[in-house]
Parts: sequence; structure tokens; C-alpha cells
Amino acid sequence: MVASDEAGDEACVSGQRICTASTGSEMEMASASAITDHYARAGLGEVILEALKTAGKDIDKLTPDDLAPLDEHHPRGRSSTVDLARLAAIKAEDRVLDLGSGIGGPSRYLAKTFGCRVLGIDLTPEFCRVAAMLTERTGLTEKIQYQQGDALEMAIADQSFDVVWSQEVAMNIADRDRLYAEIRRVLKPGGRYVFADVVASDGRSPHFPVPWAREPSASFLLTAEGTRQKIEAAGFYLRALEDQTGDCIAQQKARANHAGSPAVLGIHIVLGREGPRMLENTARNFEEGRTGLVQGVAVRSAEPHGSSWPRA
Ligand SMILES: C[S@@+](CC[C@H](N)C(=O)[O-])C[C@H]1O[C@@H](n2cnc3c(N)ncnc32)[C@H](O)[C@@H]1O
Repeated sequence: MVASDEAGDEACVSGQRICTASTGSEMEMASASAITDHYARAGLGEVILEALKTAGKDIDKLTPDDLAPLDEHHPRGRSSTVDLARLAAIKAEDRVLDLGSGIGGPSRYLAKTFGCRVLGIDLTPEFCRVAAMLTERTGLTEKIQYQQGDALEMAIADQSFDVVWSQEVAMNIADRDRLYAEIRRVLKPGGRYVFADVVASDGRSPHFPVPWAREPSASFLLTAEGTRQKIEAAGFYLRALEDQTGDCIAQQKARANHAGSPAVLGIHIVLGREGPRMLENTARNFEEGRTGLVQGVAVRSAEPHGSSWPRA
């Protein structure tokens, strides 16, 4: 189990108990609540369990694979998580921080596949509760804990994780300098930051709604090059930055088609009423060249600003 001291005085979570960390100024709290309002869905846990029962799953004996169609809240689903784990070379002894852990799909995959311990932090309280409930039903509570909190102000000790893992979260965060500085702070020297992000591409705005935002005011996309610059400037050596856009267009279209069918397990169950439009727009934005998808891994360098390492 991840020890409570990793997460600060009041930041431990065990089983379904969620503790809350402060999110800073009033303005930050307002924008934080716009993000959590976007993601929260009342009764989400029950909706998911009902969908699993309908699909013939034993909800008292779930596996991460049973949940994979609906708990991987990012464009390439489970295949993105498998790729990132390979890029980051995750090992059993790694202490992993899943930043923006959603309802916990990636954290359960990592803990089950590699045996590593994971702490998930997410801004949306409802997601933290659902993540803890599903983790309990997969028997992984000894390996995984969840904490409600803001990636920009984590109640985490300096240099306490080997890996910070973040899939499709940075798009909700305007202050990337602060985000990457905070990630660097909690990583051990030589630790890895592994990420997958939707990026801006040809300069045109995405069609909204998309899974991470209903409108432009909650969406903060950088280009792939802008992402590289910000990460390196924060004191990382970028070991890999891969474009995944082509790989995911067909997959997004398939997800959008399934979204019409309540009998099929899929991410639309988490996205709710606007899910089909969000998934259609995601595919359309990639296809029209408005957005792209990148994944990468960066190593915490010794210097806090700028990297003395050679480029990848
Ligand atoms: C698109 S979901 C991805 C969830 C998860 N990473 C996954 O791939 O399944 C984005 C998540 O980021 C979280 N998030 C957004 N801004 C955040 C912040 N400032 N701090 C922590 N979590 C944040 C949201 O609550 C949401 O759960």
C-alpha cells in the first residue's frame, strides 16, 4: 500500500475514503470547479456497475480487463496505456503517481500488470470515489490509492516518485510552467514523466464539445513543439516524443459508432449524454488537422531550468 506520508498530513486515502487538498486562490478554485463540473456525473458509479451487469460481468469479481472498454478516458484507450508503460519502462519497484487519474483505468492496469504501487490524484471528487470503488472490486486496494487534489498544488513531498504518469490531463491546465515545475518537484532525481496529450495542430480551434471540455474556456492546448519547449524549460530531458494522431482516427470513429448502443461497454458510459458528439468531434478534429495526439517520456534532469542533456 502507498504509505500516507507520501501524500502529506491529510492526504491519505484508504479504500473509499477520500481526503481533500486545497486548490489555492479563489480564481483558481473557480476554474477548478469549471473543470470538475465538466467531468462530474451524478450516480456515475451505479451507472457503470449497471452497464457491467448488462454486459454479463460479475461486478463482485471484476478485472482491469473487464473495465478497460470504459475506464480508459483518453483517445486510444488501453493501447495508449500499454504504449506509455513500454515507453516509461515501468517496473514493480517503481512508485508511480498517476496525475489526473480519472476513474482509475491506467492505475489499475499498471498495478495489475507490473505489481507497482500507484497513487492517483484527480481534481474531480466523483472520479476519485468511482476510482476507489472500482479498485476495491478488482482487489487492488493494496497497490493503489486515490487522492482528490490539484496537479498545480499537490500535497506530496518533494522527490517522492519514480514516475509521474499523466494521460490527457494537461489540456485542462493553462499554467503549464507551474504544472511541469510541480511534476519535477515530486519526481526523484532521474525520475520519468510519461504523458499523452491532445495538442493544437494547424492553428484552428477544435470543434466542441470534446471529452475534456464543452467549450474553449476549459481547453488549453499547446502544439507538440510548444509542449516540448515547456517540458524542457522546466528541467527535463525529453527522451521520446511520438505522434500518435494517425493511429487513433479509426479507433475514435469506432468509439463514436458504439456510443449509440447502450448495450456496448464503452467510454460513452462515462461521458454521458453528450458522449457521442464528443467522440465524433475528437475524430473530426484529428481528421481535419485541428488537433493531434502525442505521447512521450521525459527524464528529470539535475538542473531545475533548461536541460544540459543532449536532445533525443
Ligand atoms: C480526460 S480525463 C483523463 C483521465 C485519466 N488520465 C485517463 O486517461 O483515464 C482528464 C482528467 O484530468 C483531471 N484533471 C483536470 N485538471 C486537473 C488538475 N488541475 N489536477 C488534477 N486533475 C485534473 C480531470 O478531473 C479528469 O479526471
